[in-house]
Amino acid sequence: MAHDEISFDDYDETINPAPETTEFDAVVETALSRRGFLGGVMSFGVGTFVLGTTALSTPASASADRFGFDQVAANTLDTITVPEGFEWKPVALWGDPLWSDVPAFDEATRGTAASQARAFGDNNDGMSVFNMHGKTLMVVNNEYTNRKLLWGNRADAKPETSDDIEKGMMAHGVSVFQVTPVDGDWQIMQDSDLNRRITPRTEMDLTGPAAGHDLLKTAADPTGTKTLGTWNNCGNGETPWGTYLACEENFNGYFSAEDESHEVSAELKRYGVSSKDWGYGWAQVDERFDVSKNPNEPNRAGYVVEIDPFDPTSTPKKRTALGRFKHENAEVVIAANGKVVVYMGDDERGEFLYRFVSNGIYTATGSTEGLLDDGVLSVAKFNDDMTGEWLELTPETTGMTEAEICIHTRMAASKVGATTMDRPEWVAANPAKVEAYVALTNNKNRGKKPNAGGDDTSANAVNPRVGNNYGQIARWVPDAADHTAKGFIWDLYALAGNPDVHSDAYAGSENINAGNMFNSPDGLMFDDNGLLWIQTDGKYSNEGDFAGMGNNQMLVGDTVTGEIRRFMVGPKECEVTGMCWSPDRRTMFVGIQHPGEKSGSHFPHGGETLPRSGVFAISRTDGAVIG
Ligand code: FEO
Ligand code: CA
Ligand code: CA
Repeated sequence: MAHDEISFDDYDETINPAPETTEFDAVVETALSRRGFLGGVMSFGVGTFVLGTTALSTPASASADRFGFDQVAANTLDTITVPEGFEWKPVALWGDPLWSDVPAFDEATRGTAASQARAFGDNNDGMSVFNMHGKTLMVVNNEYTNRKLLWGNRADAKPETSDDIEKGMMAHGVSVFQVTPVDGDWQIMQDSDLNRRITPRTEMDLTGPAAGHDLLKTAADPTGTKTLGTWNNCGNGETPWGTYLACEENFNGYFSAEDESHEVSAELKRYGVSSKDWGYGWAQVDERFDVSKNPNEPNRAGYVVEIDPFDPTSTPKKRTALGRFKHENAEVVIAANGKVVVYMGDDERGEFLYRFVSNGIYTATGSTEGLLDDGVLSVAKFNDDMTGEWLELTPETTGMTEAEICIHTRMAASKVGATTMDRPEWVAANPAKVEAYVALTNNKNRGKKPNAGGDDTSANAVNPRVGNNYGQIARWVPDAADHTAKGFIWDLYALAGNPDVHSDAYAGSENINAGNMFNSPDGLMFDDNGLLWIQTDGKYSNEGDFAGMGNNQMLVGDTVTGEIRRFMVGPKECEVTGMCWSPDRRTMFVGIQHPGEKSGSHFPHGGETLPRSGVFAISRTDGAVIG
């Protein structure tokens, strides 16, 4: 089966199937019958968090409407739908040149490797805006490519030349470009001296405890400290010292072997690396992606990459202390004691949620070098009694060296008995309160199959539904309002579901109703007002279990009242990815990824044009602040 017909996760399973298991059930009932999560400490106002189909009862003490817009209805249109009084415009689309000597995107050829290497990449995901000396800089992950489109001018949409393959490679990475308002519309500022394309060929340093370890050494880099490039960057993060964090997710899907019968190691299998080509063909043009010839090369991917966006000559750094897994985003918080806390999800069925705490202290005027290289990595355990704890990954707890923990992080987490999760996507920390949220997007294997390491995935209180096809958003409050504390209490902010189709737990939590229902929460971001923006990457069939949900979308959650309201609906077959604001907060930038991934879209230009991923500016027609 070609990878472009199924998701990354489904493909992982075809090449690395987990054994069947059947034991589950009692825990589910216990978790679902629970009332008043956290006894009112974090529950919705009056401890009324009850699974069911009735509309959310807003507590009397709740503030007036904080949303400032009327909910948009679900739809299956091939456009962006925003509420009355808002408008949207494209800022950067796949293939848009970052320099004026690059030809404009060509629908007939879809460009070349050379043009793509100097143009906005494909399938944008996490992104940030930075502002310095009046310059507004946008940094955007280009996660992967829509190969049906990229090679749609070729027979069967398969690459015919090495340049075709290289073009696909160059569509990955990170795009850095200055933006400026032209007649009120944000546009790419071509030729800015800050513009940069970071690709799978850009020189990078490996830093932290794993740097120089034998497992990171290759023929091309006997030091184990210098590597090339980044790819499949999903969510992102930013530090208070003005750097960007690109998070490497499904890095495994780019490795293969000339001899497909080559057996990869158990350690590589845990990460889904295999000898089969997923369809990108990179090993055909670059031997470092042939896992039989360079078995350590995959150990050099799967990290959080720190990029200094204001120095285009800087060398990005892969921070091994933050662990190696299929990183979603990296949510950075400075704890009250000055330590840097980074929350990170590992987006695969039954994998874990992580926390890094620096040993050093951040101060606005002190050195920040090394803060992300030296610290303690922990993994979350969610107890069914709504408490939880961070289990430290150390040589004592895992029997592994510090470097091995940073490289084989999944195995370390399995050893300490962390809670297997329903695919942890973005984590967002509330700027108005010491608490954090994680999107657990879905997990059809919950209660049915162990994870790739063989860990039990029976339903539990935080992942309460077997064969979870809708997803949920969990949140936790650290003990003593301290993000570095060992313990926390938690509850579920929302269980997505369909109250039109189901009357049990699959109907969703009380704050899910026929008007706002959605599936597969993925992107989570807080705005300055403490509202939680929720982006979805789910099923858009609008049928069966998903009837009435329409296209993928973006919603806003009031974390005090629990109310969730739909703000935006994306075009056909897209996923909504990434979000950030202009410095004056009058523009919200939102990512639209893979519109028309199954060939059913012409977004954004309509007619018979090719659909293109891109960054879009959303603003209020009255020019007021948004978010
Ligand atoms: Fe790239 Fe977890 O989504
Ligand atoms: Ca995602
Ligand atoms: Ca997703």
